[in-house]
Amino acid sequence: MAKICASLLAADYACLGEEMRRAEAAGADSFHFDMMDGHYVPNLALTPDHLKALRPYSHLSFHAHLELNNPDDVLFKFEPMQANTAIVQWNTLSDPSRIIKRIHSQAMKAGLGFGPDDPLDEASHFFQDVDLILILGVYPGFGGQSMLPGTHEKIMSARHMSDRINPRIRIAVDGGVKPENAAGLVEAGADTLIMGTALFQSSDMAETIASIREAIAGLSDR
Ligand code: DX5
Ligand code: ZN
Repeated sequence: MAKICASLLAADYACLGEEMRRAEAAGADSFHFDMMDGHYVPNLALTPDHLKALRPYSHLSFHAHLELNNPDDVLFKFEPMQANTAIVQWNTLSDPSRIIKRIHSQAMKAGLGFGPDDPLDEASHFFQDVDLILILGVYPGFGGQSMLPGTHEKIMSARHMSDRINPRIRIAVDGGVKPENAAGLVEAGADTLIMGTALFQSSDMAETIASIREAIAGLSDR
């Protein structure tokens, strides 16, 4: 069954640890930390210090999503065992192989993130080496946006490419995911649904997660 990953960008910043406990109790499978630099996107968000401070609050997997221009500068600040996966944006990379190796050398899984205007085919050469492909359903920078048309097709392409090159890759979708579109995204090939607003702003997070699981039950056994 596809995994539900809670994006802390939409959580209450006054009590992130409690928000994580609330999401875990509601049934979230993992956590997503958006790191922004105010340059790559016109916003600021979480930092490696948040990973460190929040690590004790959950044993679930942490994904760091580096929506910033110089991922090397930030990866340098990650301490061991804090993030399980580091996802870098494809269009920030001058040498994808090098950064994938670097992430692996820091004992993390490596993900490549693709914005709405980033073509996937150029990256096929690197599918062999990565653990996760993240398809952004929105232009990065802010939570609460509506998913853009074309997202399903891109997920389908990513799934076809990974089936051909490296079937172990996870395909995550991030931005604009909600209970109403979850089943269609899983049918397209997503196995990880990253959700901020739809979880943290819902009136009953456990009910929301349960309704998503019901909607996607039987669609995928990944
Ligand atoms: C967007 C971020 C997303 C964001 C998703 O730049 O990468 O992770 O938190 O937020 P929602 O689920 O509200 O669209
Ligand atoms: Zn993200």
